[in-house]
Amino acid sequence: MTTDLNGQVALVTGSSRGIGAETARQLADAGADVVVNYLTSDEAAAAVAADVEDTGSDSLVVQADVTDPDAVTSMVSKAESELGTVDILVNNANLPFERKPIAEITWAEMARKIDAELKAALSTTKAVTPGMVEQGHGRLLYVSSGLSKRADGQSVAHGVAKSGLNAFVRYVAEEYGEHGITANTISPGLVETSATSERIDEELRANVSRATPLGRVAQPEDVAATIVAFAGDAGRFTTGTYTPVNGGSRME
Ligand SMILES: NC(=O)c1ccc[n+]([C@@H]2O[C@H](COP(=O)([O-])OP(=O)(O)OC[C@H]3O[C@@H](n4cnc5c(N)ncnc54)[C@H](OP(=O)(O)O)[C@@H]3O)[C@@H](O)[C@H]2O)c1
Repeated sequence: MTTDLNGQVALVTGSSRGIGAETARQLADAGADVVVNYLTSDEAAAAVAADVEDTGSDSLVVQADVTDPDAVTSMVSKAESELGTVDILVNNANLPFERKPIAEITWAEMARKIDAELKAALSTTKAVTPGMVEQGHGRLLYVSSGLSKRADGQSVAHGVAKSGLNAFVRYVAEEYGEHGITANTISPGLVETSATSERIDEELRANVSRATPLGRVAQPEDVAATIVAFAGDAGRFTTGTYTPVNGGSRME
């Protein structure tokens, strides 16, 4: 089934790089107009927007810190006035965290990541849902992590924050289903992006590939393809789910 998103507007947070950038490109390939959001990488965001426009779709580049609710509200207002009601939200921005063992991490460091992750999810959801409710249709996709379900050295802040995100998505699905709005969690394992490429040496690549039935490290395209499928007709009666995109490395 090919995904047809013609006439739809998608907003992808953190789409200047990595999974978000590829998601923006694939959504545009499927016909959607795309809001490209970024924090500091204005040139990279402009390049993604140019790729979007090359497909014949419209783009809008918006600098906004997704952990600032006012900035999120104005980003969505701008999107609505320039492109139209947001039909698809991809809550993806990669919010930094301290990689430390429990013995060393402070509550302030834990709280910073939990606060940022959930504030971004809540703010983006609250900003786009009024328009979706009005039109009786919407697709909300939230990018979590396999580390929300399994412990892996020194990622406690990230794992706990993403686990909170998983729970949040189920509440969104429950509350907004009656309005024709779906909410689903897409959960990658290790993906080769600017966030991870320094850590992915040949040894790690070989180990991950061996432990992965599909035999390689994931690329941003792999995660984007799943997000686009959920955004399209294939996702029309699926909500409140958690979908791993990890080549089978963890069968959750
Ligand atoms: N890579 C992995 O192995 C992996 C695995 C599991 C889950 N994930 C999840 O996948 C998502 C994307 O990760 P990635 O690896 O693709 O990230 P990435 O390559 O590091 O790109 C991060 C993106 O987020 C944007 N961003 C960061 N802080 C932001 C903020 N406060 N407001 C708005 N945008 C912000 C960045 O914008 P600038 O370019 O302007 O900084 C950039 O576009 C994240 O939610 C991450 O937790 C990744």
